[in-house]
Amino acid sequence: MIDLHSHILPGLDDGSSSLALSIEMARLAVADGTTHMACTPHIMPGVYENVATNIVQAVQVLEQALLDAGIPLALFVGADVHVAPDLPERLKLGKIPTLNRSRYFLFEPPHHILPPRLEDLASRLIGAGYVPILTHPERLTWIRSSYDVVERLNALGCLIQLTADSIVGAFGRTALYYSEKLLDEGRVDIVASDAHGVSRRKPGLAQAVVAIANRCGEDEAYNMAVKRPGAILQDQLLQPVGKMSAKKSSASNTGRFGGLGRLFKSGAL
Ligand SMILES: [Fe+2]
Repeated sequence: MIDLHSHILPGLDDGSSSLALSIEMARLAVADGTTHMACTPHIMPGVYENVATNIVQAVQVLEQALLDAGIPLALFVGADVHVAPDLPERLKLGKIPTLNRSRYFLFEPPHHILPPRLEDLASRLIGAGYVPILTHPERLTWIRSSYDVVERLNALGCLIQLTADSIVGAFGRTALYYSEKLLDEGRVDIVASDAHGVSRRKPGLAQAVVAIANRCGEDEAYNMAVKRPGAILQDQLLQPVGKMSAKKSSASNTGRFGGLGRLFKSGAL
């Protein structure tokens, strides 16, 4: 599986605090079936002042440590990019890294306040050739009053990333409710761990993939955990699923339990 959202790099944000912990996170990810992981520390002006150069350097250090430890996890450069009005400029200057130098980047709004002109910012980013991946809308507290904003961001061309822990209930009932709503409406493009450590918020997508497969069918679970994340890393053009398709109802779901074992056995997950 391919995990495009993780705070595995040591010492750059509120994720891993040491190289030893990062190695342990990588071990857990691999044991769970993750083969590829984007390293996406927060970029938040005034709080987490990361830029492309120090992130690339940290990825190289961790890559070498994983090689030395014999842990087969392929790492990619990225960032968890917090909403700021000058994002288009900082992306263009190369200060903010996209995911593996693709057109895609993680786009994280504030959790508790809907920022003004968010849709305008998304339009400017898309107009500049980038594709924002809206991170875990199901966990934003303002989703309850402003679900229409998420719908419009999706219609504009933002992809949607669900957090693995949300769909298994680890972020509580509201996050679970909106995870299921987004899944049932056919809006979720990818699932990612947003891992921060080895106990709470740890790496791993397998449990979430089972939950998604039970709800949406195994093909869609495969698309969210393997196919689309892989296409993103290769900078292939993707349309948001929520924009492309007429909304699927949960009644049309297929593959409930059936065949998931086959996916795991085939090594696809
Ligand atoms: Fe994150």
